[in-house]
Amino acid sequence: MPSTDPRSLRCVAIVLAGGVGARMGASVPKQLLRIAGKPIVEHTIEALESSPDVDEIIVMMEEHHLGEIDALRASGRFPKLSAVRKGGSTRNESTARALASLGPEEAKVLIHDAVRPFLDDRIVRECVEALDSYDAVDTAIASADTIIEVSTDDDGREFIRDVPQRSSLRRGQTPQAFRLSVIRRAYELAAADPGFTATDDCTVVLRYLPHVPIAVVRGAEENMKITEPVDISVADKIFQLRTGPIEVLGDATRFRALAGSTVVVFGGSQGIGASVCELASRYGARVFSFSRATTGTHVEHREQVADALAHAAAATGRVDFVVNAAAVLDISPLMDVDAVSVRRIIDIDLHGPIIVAQEAYPHLVRSQGQLMFFTSSSYTRGRAGYSLYSACKSAIVNLTQALSEEWSDAGVRVNCINPQRTRTPMRERAFGDEPDGTLLTPEKVAERTVDVLSSSITGQVIDVRQA
Ligand code: CTP
Repeated sequence: MPSTDPRSLRCVAIVLAGGVGARMGASVPKQLLRIAGKPIVEHTIEALESSPDVDEIIVMMEEHHLGEIDALRASGRFPKLSAVRKGGSTRNESTARALASLGPEEAKVLIHDAVRPFLDDRIVRECVEALDSYDAVDTAIASADTIIEVSTDDDGREFIRDVPQRSSLRRGQTPQAFRLSVIRRAYELAAADPGFTATDDCTVVLRYLPHVPIAVVRGAEENMKITEPVDISVADKIFQLRTGPIEVLGDATRFRALAGSTVVVFGGSQGIGASVCELASRYGARVFSFSRATTGTHVEHREQVADALAHAAAATGRVDFVVNAAAVLDISPLMDVDAVSVRRIIDIDLHGPIIVAQEAYPHLVRSQGQLMFFTSSSYTRGRAGYSLYSACKSAIVNLTQALSEEWSDAGVRVNCINPQRTRTPMRERAFGDEPDGTLLTPEKVAERTVDVLSSSITGQVIDVRQA
C-alpha cells in the first residue's frame, strides 16, 4: 500500500501519440485525422484538460508531426499541456520516454492512448481515485463477443486452443493509472529483460511486479480505440451522439446566437428553406432569402450566387450564416432521364452547393461563420427511382466533411442536416400525398437547423427525426 498521502499527489496525464497508424493506412498518423474538424489527439487533450482530476498533460508525439502538437501548446488553449516530446518506436518505448522525462517527485500518472478521444470525466475520476488505494489501475469493459484463444500451425492456419469463460473476460482500454514510482520500477525491470514485449502498461506491472494488485475501473463502449478506417465513421457518429448540437436549445440561447447576425438562405421561398428564414428572423437575425421563384437566383449560376451574397453583405456589413436549401427531386429510373435533365439535376443538387460554398467562403472567413447544407437519408444508401438525387446527396455529405477540414483553420464551420422525410412542396410533387404523422414538418427541421447554427460544431451530419 502507498505510503505518501495519495490525495495530495499531482496527477500527470501522458498522452501516447507516437504511433504511425499502420492499420489505418492514412497519409498521416491516425491521431491527426479529424473528427468534427479537429484532430483526434486534440479531442483527447481537450478531454484531459477539462478533467478536474488532471493537473498536467504531456504528449508523446510521432516524430515527424511534433509541430502540430507544439502549435496546440503555443495556442495557449491548453494551460495544462506542459510538454510535447518525441515518442519511441514502440508504444512501451513511448511510455518509457515519458516516465524518464518526469521529475523524481512521486505522482499519479494516467497513461492514455491519443486515439481514444471519447474519454469521459467519470473514467478519469475513478482511475485517479482508485490510485488512493492501489498502485496500478486498468480500465476495461465486458466483452459482448466470445473470446477465443488460437494457436497457429506451420502454414499459418488458426485453430481454437481454448475458449475462456466470457464472464471473467474484459477488454482492456486506457487510461491505465499508476503511482509513478511503481510504473518506473516495473519499466526498469522490463528494460533488463531481453524478451520483453507488451501492448499496454498494466502488463508491465503484472509481469515484473506480480505482487502489485491492479484494480480495474469500468470503461465505456464509447471509449473506443480508433484503429481501422471504419472506426472513423463510427467515431463521427459517437461524436454526434454525445455532443450538444442534437440538444434542443432554449429560446434564449438561439436568440443570443442569431440576434444581429446576417443569414443568407438559398432556396428560401418554400419548404425547409422558408421555415429557416422565418425562424431565424424570429430570433433576431437579418435574413436574406433567394430562390428561383422570388429573386430569380439559381444556385447553379455563379454570378447570381455571388450577387446575392454581395447584396446581403452590402446591406448589413456581414454574412454570418449561409444555408443552402435549394434542390430538385425528380422520380424516374435513370434510364428514363434524358441527358438535359441529368445535367440539370446535377447542376442544382451538386454543382449549386459547390458554387455556394466557394462564393460564401470569403464572407464566412470574415465573420467566422457557418455554411449549412441539407442531405437526405438516401445518402447512406441510394434508392431506386431517384439515383441522381441520392448520389448528389451522398456527395453533399462528403463535401461537408471535406470542407470542414479544409476550412477549420480559417475558423469556418460546415455542417449538414439530414432530415427524415419532411412535408415540403418538393416532396409532395415527387411522392404525392402521404399520411400525416409519417412526415416531419419543415418547422421542426428549421428548429434543429437553428440549433446547429447556434453551436460550435463542424463537419457533422445531424439527423433530424420525428421524435
Ligand atoms: N503509440 C505510441 N508510440 C508508438 C506506437 C503507438 O505512442 N511507437 C500510441 C499510438 O499513437 C496510439 C496508442 O499508442 O495512440 C495505441 O496504439 P495503436 O492503436 O497500436 O497505434 P499505432 O501503433 O499508431 O497503430 P498501428 O498498430 O495500426 O500502426
